[in-house]
Amino acid sequence: MFDVITFGSATRDMFVISKDFQAIKSDDFVSGKGLCVSAGSKIFAEDIVFASGGGSSNCAATFTLQGLATACVTKVGDDPGGNAVIDDLKKLGVNTGFILKDKKFKTAYSVILSPPHGERTILVYQGASHELRKEEISWQELKKTEWFYISGLSGASSEIFESIINFAHENGIKIAVNPGEAQLKMGIDRLEPLLNKIDIFILNKEEATRLTCLPYNAEKEIFKRLDNWIRGIAVMSKGPEGVMVSDGRDIYSAGIPKSGILDRTGAGDAFGSGFVAGLIQKSKHKKPDASAIEYAIQLGTANATGTVQHLGAKNGLLKKGEWGPWKRVEVKSYRI
Ligand SMILES: Nc1ncnc2c1ncn2[C@@H]1O[C@H](COP(=O)(O)OP(=O)(O)OP(=O)(O)O)[C@@H](O)[C@H]1O
Ligand SMILES: [Mg+2]
Repeated sequence: MFDVITFGSATRDMFVISKDFQAIKSDDFVSGKGLCVSAGSKIFAEDIVFASGGGSSNCAATFTLQGLATACVTKVGDDPGGNAVIDDLKKLGVNTGFILKDKKFKTAYSVILSPPHGERTILVYQGASHELRKEEISWQELKKTEWFYISGLSGASSEIFESIINFAHENGIKIAVNPGEAQLKMGIDRLEPLLNKIDIFILNKEEATRLTCLPYNAEKEIFKRLDNWIRGIAVMSKGPEGVMVSDGRDIYSAGIPKSGILDRTGAGDAFGSGFVAGLIQKSKHKKPDASAIEYAIQLGTANATGTVQHLGAKNGLLKKGEWGPWKRVEVKSYRI
């Protein structure tokens, strides 16, 4: 029996650190800035770091480190990158028996270009992580769990999102979702019947604004709408500003502890999975109460703070009972 089974992508990540990456203002780019190097030159990197990443694998790492029996569902290529992802998870103690290997596409690969003091830029090859198909999944085996944690599913893999939620609902499995782009693009008409089956729904503030079609700072209104749609708890993360959570009765909020930051890759996964791990630890067979939500916010925040101190989405994740050198964040709440 598992506590949690995760769904989503698994990638190989390579971080390239070079002081020669320059940000240049230009309206030719969506962000108004381009990351530039001199064309035709050799650009030297001060360091490179290899790590595994992707929502399904990162979150599985947090759950197992938090002492929960965890399995990961994802697809990699039949290549050394895929084996490296599987080995990383095995070493942590994650069950990798459900990880599929695609014969045609290679393991997803991200190259993270990181200037020492600037915003990173990521080159993404999604490869095999796009190719998870309904008919390849051992559905009967997946019944043996308390929770599903579903992170972004893209390409052909996005077509199984509804099936996973409906399967969990029919089998009494609790559901946490941190949606990706393809899920948000489904539109509220298709999403609404699914949200009604979800126990924990995790979005960042931009995503929450887009989904609810409300102004960026209308936080109360955003939660009112999310609470109407979602059966359980709505979580809105706000990057360095912290997080807000609603259980439909109270709104909880917290900032982040004073700490450094090296690289924010994996912060969303570390927060979301840390939050869900905290709720599972504190409310195994009962409805989460205020103290469980408070604890979950503190654990998710501490776990995200741990990972942003390091390159590599799994580096710095906390083990059960460890909280790092930072103070636990103060959680405030008020009745809606
Ligand atoms: N720069 C930062 N410094 C410290 N903590 C951070 C930082 N960015 C994020 N966090 C922590 O991680 C949590 C989740 O981050 P964020 O809101 O950026 O999620 P996200 O946009 O989903 O991230 P991702 O791009 O990884 O999916 C925040 O609520 C906060 O606790
Ligand atoms: Mg995210």
